[in-house]
Amino acid sequence: MAGKPLNERIAEVEVDSMFTDRWSPRAFLSDPLPAHQINALFEAARWAPSCFNEQPWLFVYATEPEQRGKLVSVLVEKNQRWAAKCPLLMFVLARRQFKEGGRENRHAPFDAGSAWMSLALQARRLGLYAHAMAGFSLKKAYEVLGVSEEDYLIMAAIAVGRKGDADQLPEDLRIMESPNARKPPAEVATDKFPLAQMPKV
Ligand SMILES: Cc1cc2nc3c(=O)[nH]c(=O)nc-3n(C[C@H](O)[C@H](O)[C@H](O)COP(=O)(O)O)c2cc1C
Repeated sequence: MAGKPLNERIAEVEVDSMFTDRWSPRAFLSDPLPAHQINALFEAARWAPSCFNEQPWLFVYATEPEQRGKLVSVLVEKNQRWAAKCPLLMFVLARRQFKEGGRENRHAPFDAGSAWMSLALQARRLGLYAHAMAGFSLKKAYEVLGVSEEDYLIMAAIAVGRKGDADQLPEDLRIMESPNARKPPAEVATDKFPLAQMPKV
């Protein structure tokens, strides 16, 4: 099979394999997901931490062809080419203001990110994969989802399903179809602050 070797996913320090097992494939099976699996994904997301326990995330999802088609239409063409097949598509939103007092919640994107990661890790526990996407029309997303820009940030689209065979993908996507690597540990955490000495990455 073409692509980079899987050993790029060997952790430098021993960690739970759930972190290296999660990755973002593009080859999916179109088989529908049972309701209990879909519910488990959102349940995992529900338990994410958030500032003041605000839980500012909202997942807007579709499983049926007509509704899924509406979400697919929001994606850029390169994402449509593989994500249209996925049995579960969704967008993750972050509510901009705290419910109490209407103050801006600048932590909402951070919290929505936590919820997405919980969902992605739970997906692996269920034998599924979740693949996030920023490649979509923001304007169209607001229209199709029917939410106001004043109230919500639309953070990402997410495709979920069982993994399919990479050979089904068009060549340009197939050659990217393998787990990728990470920056070295020294580039993601430092105790050398103030950071003027931090190497440029
Ligand atoms: C917010 C976000 C946006 C992304 N946008 C896209 C996208 O539009 N299309 C795509 O194919 N992958 C997209 N990805 C997947 C990333 O390329 C991928 O997560 C990254 O290369 C790390 O690889 P991994 O998820 O396989 O570990 C996105 C991921 C995130 C978290």
